[in-house]
Amino acid sequence: MFAMTINFHQIKKFINHYFTAKRNGHGVHSPLAYQLCEEVFYNKNHFYDFDELKKIRTELLNNQNEITIQDFGAGSKTFTSNQRKINILAKKGISSSQQSETLYKLINFLNSKTLIELGTSLGLNSLYLAKANKIGHLITVEGSENLTEFACNLATKNNISNIEFIDSTFEKALPIALSKVETLDFIYIDGNHRYESTMNYFIQALSKKNNNSVFVFDDIYWSEGMTKAWEEIKKHPSVTLSIDAFYFGMVMFREEIKEKVDLKFYL
Ligand SMILES: C[S@@+](CC[C@H](N)C(=O)[O-])C[C@H]1O[C@@H](n2cnc3c(N)ncnc32)[C@H](O)[C@@H]1O
Repeated sequence: MFAMTINFHQIKKFINHYFTAKRNGHGVHSPLAYQLCEEVFYNKNHFYDFDELKKIRTELLNNQNEITIQDFGAGSKTFTSNQRKINILAKKGISSSQQSETLYKLINFLNSKTLIELGTSLGLNSLYLAKANKIGHLITVEGSENLTEFACNLATKNNISNIEFIDSTFEKALPIALSKVETLDFIYIDGNHRYESTMNYFIQALSKKNNNSVFVFDDIYWSEGMTKAWEEIKKHPSVTLSIDAFYFGMVMFREEIKEKVDLKFYL
């Protein structure tokens, strides 16, 4: 996301990322990482779902209505009151087209079927996740009741039925969401960007990981705490592949990767 107030930590990390990240698959030795470059990160193929999803984004960007939200977790660097215009939230508070499209391609490529999103907001990104695998099932969690209601209506209006909305805090809902899946293919953690909370969600989600799982963490350079969490997650013994795309980071747990692979991609 990141369309928000930029701090010194982010600038410093961005400059480093700009000069060190790969811009294509050249020199990527891991076959899986190379495939991810080709099929996900630098895949320029047109997906028809994106046309419809772009139209929905445009509608949200033109929506002048206001919504009252509750402030959760690490708060916001962009907003100061609890009243939000839908168009401002759509512009500054949710994943960009590029990020949501990358997540769509990731789910599509890995054929992820059991999906959890922490942080629904308006529910646009949830639509990308749900559409990426029509036989998949997404559980999305949001603590602000009005946002859950808005997102639920957005899905209904667009005839998307493979999303389960949970209106609760991540703390209460994550154990419930995890208990509903036998195994977890995909999780997108996009809210409450604090070190302790992020580590806590990661450790909980690990209990349901499989060899094909991918865990995605948004805003890994949002604060020093988030970057600390990201560094620890990458080093966790169960992680064998990490990809840092600056705006978000993803980790995988493939047992066939014997030597840990850590890559940075510039999107
Ligand atoms: C960045 S927004 C999610 C954006 C959405 N994933 C997207 O890309 O469109 C984060 C959301 O998480 C919610 N949130 C943050 N911390 C939370 C918590 N501890 N429990 C429940 N909801 C929380 C906020 O209310 C906010 O709507």
